[in-house]
Amino acid sequence: MQITFAPPASVEAGALVLGVFADGVLSNAAAAVDRRSKGALARALKAAPKFKGGRDETLALYGIDGTGADQIVLFGLGKPEELDAVRLQRAGGAVAALLNQNRIEAAVAQLEGIVLPGQGAGAAAAEFAFGARLRAWRFERYRTKEKPEAKPTLKGLTVQTGDAAAAKKAFGRADAVAQGVFLTRELVSEPANVLTPESFATRVRKELEDLGVEVEVLGEKQMRKLGMGALLGVGQGSAQESQLVVLQWKGAGGKRKNDAPVAFVGKGVTFDTGGISLKPGQGMWDMKWDMGGAGVVAGLFKALALRKARVNAVGVLGLVENMPSGEAQRPGDIVTSMSGQTIEVWNTDAEGRLVLADALWYTQDRFKPKAMVNLATLTGAVVVALGTEHAGLFSNDDGLADKLLAAGKAVEEKLWRLPLGDAYDKQIDSDIADMKNITGSRDAGSIIGGQFLQRFVNGVPWAHLDIAGTTWSSKDSPTVPKGATAFGVRLLDRFVADNHEG
Ligand code: BES
Ligand code: MN
Ligand code: ZN
Repeated sequence: MQITFAPPASVEAGALVLGVFADGVLSNAAAAVDRRSKGALARALKAAPKFKGGRDETLALYGIDGTGADQIVLFGLGKPEELDAVRLQRAGGAVAALLNQNRIEAAVAQLEGIVLPGQGAGAAAAEFAFGARLRAWRFERYRTKEKPEAKPTLKGLTVQTGDAAAAKKAFGRADAVAQGVFLTRELVSEPANVLTPESFATRVRKELEDLGVEVEVLGEKQMRKLGMGALLGVGQGSAQESQLVVLQWKGAGGKRKNDAPVAFVGKGVTFDTGGISLKPGQGMWDMKWDMGGAGVVAGLFKALALRKARVNAVGVLGLVENMPSGEAQRPGDIVTSMSGQTIEVWNTDAEGRLVLADALWYTQDRFKPKAMVNLATLTGAVVVALGTEHAGLFSNDDGLADKLLAAGKAVEEKLWRLPLGDAYDKQIDSDIADMKNITGSRDAGSIIGGQFLQRFVNGVPWAHLDIAGTTWSSKDSPTVPKGATAFGVRLLDRFVADNHEG
């Protein structure tokens, strides 16, 4: 879909898209159309049973005189004093979905007069367009027989605004983030026969190297040399070679050029069968997206590079496939991690923490980051606790936790902090090794996972986002079509922008 920005003008064809505030209060552009149509919009609003101009609401109208458009699409903005960026993004997304449903190819949205508090005229238009862009994405690669009439129709969206130049500039930045989101959604959508640790690494290199990201890929031989027995143990049963991808984006300039980086670490289990502690078959197909954390880190770096973020950032992706086989690790095996700490593997299905143990240790050891954030589809227990509304946040640093909570709120990728503490920590002490990877009880499952990870961060300010409930969605939301959500890309882009770009 082509998105363009233009000054206000009259409309030729397709759909005309207009905003309405709470209680049916027409935006300036809608009021102008209402006058030209001799009050048709006001009459339609009176008759519409459900559309009140509330947020996320849309309504299509046909046969309205006074414009060149085939149909008019109204979107709700809610109360003017509550208008914010997310609400406009959601409006743009909801409109994009409706336009496709109504088989529209070209649409003009008139956003002039709709203004975000404290921002210039172009900002609202850019947010609306961003939302439309996010919603209109679709994973197309494996559809070979879809009928043309089932395909999305929307080819062009023009957003009219009082300041088209400013909107275009703001959208350039937003679109960089959208491209990062799309890379993540694609990686997460790919099946595990296509996305293996090696093909994942290759794809990340191809996507990011040309953008100026330094990409290194370590294979099993190099990881063995580094002593990464925890990560390698997980991949041991797989025919696919485990990989560690290291990304560096050196975007800080001037006297911040040599600043310590902020680091992002992702769990990238390209398929999680559970290993010898095999999962039940029902729903196991979901475990193709057990690489969601690593997918977010890859997408985040695409966004940072495309928008030339003024930050030094490091990304580390721990890529493995967790399979049962004659060579797979067994429950009760003891592995030695890169940190030197030994782990008794009671359950081979608690594999994400084993992968991250070495990835986190490596990251802090090599890069001495000022902060380290990991993302992982780590526990089913976080889905029990928080469902799909919030991801779990665990941290050893209140300041870092607060910054992440704030970023999550701002982009509507919400986090909820859960506790860590010594009483939990001691539950993973082992009788014969330094620790075990589960407790053997179901109590506080997500916290126990966080506690395990904390033993590998070496005191660095660190946060763990358990995204098991938010990585995949079974239903559409205004800016996120069902399937891979890329939850975390917008959040961490915002976290970087607000805290690490000087
Ligand atoms: N990848 C799973 C967690 C998961 C579950 C992600 C559902 C997404 C949706 C993880 O590796 C796992 O198997 N965790 C176990 C841990 C348990 C053995 C302590 C779990 O949650 O059951
Ligand atoms: Mn598992
Ligand atoms: Zn897993």
